[in-house]
Amino acid sequence: MKTASKGIWQPIALSESIGSEVPIRVCYEAKEVALFRDGIGKVRALKDRCPHRRVPLSLGKVIEGELRCAYHGWTFDGSSGACTQIPNLSDEEKVPSRYKVDAYSVHEDNGFVFLWSGQNPPSKDGDKPVFAANEDLPLYGNVIVPLATSAYRLAMLDGPETLIGIHNIGFTDFFLGDPVTRDGIIQVERNAGWIRRGKPPSKWATDYPFILRTISSFEDGTIIHQLFDDKEQIVAQIYMSIFPGTRSTTNIVWRGNVNFNHKDAGKISRTKAPIDIFSHLDGEAIANLLVGPSSQFQEAV
Ligand code: FES
Repeated sequence: MKTASKGIWQPIALSESIGSEVPIRVCYEAKEVALFRDGIGKVRALKDRCPHRRVPLSLGKVIEGELRCAYHGWTFDGSSGACTQIPNLSDEEKVPSRYKVDAYSVHEDNGFVFLWSGQNPPSKDGDKPVFAANEDLPLYGNVIVPLATSAYRLAMLDGPETLIGIHNIGFTDFFLGDPVTRDGIIQVERNAGWIRRGKPPSKWATDYPFILRTISSFEDGTIIHQLFDDKEQIVAQIYMSIFPGTRSTTNIVWRGNVNFNHKDAGKISRTKAPIDIFSHLDGEAIANLLVGPSSQFQEAV
């Protein structure tokens, strides 16, 4: 993964969630953003506050590729943020050029929409997303959890079983060897196996059919999980973008795939979602996690 100096490209939304008729609202750190598609289908991001009377622009509508405020109908261009139309102006009057709203840099790739976090725009060649999901990831979702982002990221390293599930597979809380830190990431592996009669795999077993690898970035809130079978083939993956929401909550935007090709494929439900990113968290279970790889992560960050 590459280090960006003045900002990062943070995935903040799924491509499927952004349409060309009604905007959506996303909170990313201190930014409140209205996202929509313009007349050619490009994703645009404007500050979610109308400069007229501060009504959220995400309550408005997209009309002919531009975002119209729900209150008095001022309309804004998505690429520049310029106000292009005020309904009660006469034909002779022009919209003053100072009427505009902040427009943010966005980028769309493989089902994720990225927002640039820096004050200055990204450089054309130098600043690329560090979160590359070059796979077919047909499963997706977004969740808001009542846990601060820093705590969520640490719990994911020490006990992913408290935050995510892959149907019918349990993760042990023993991690294998020392976590690896390099190039802005920490990587942890732990044993995983089938859940039998509702019970996760025993921590005393000597042989496990799977290994769960968790890769967490230091510089942004992205985490990749890869589940390997005994032939070292990846049978499930989850790409997660984790970033602060409002009121100490955490936003999670994720995509994944599950691809079991061996004899046990039938144990993965075809009716239940094979990947579950928990929206209801067990506070006691998280509080009781032993401190493990998270201590190394905290030192590095
Ligand atoms: S508050 Fe948006 S147009 Fe008046």
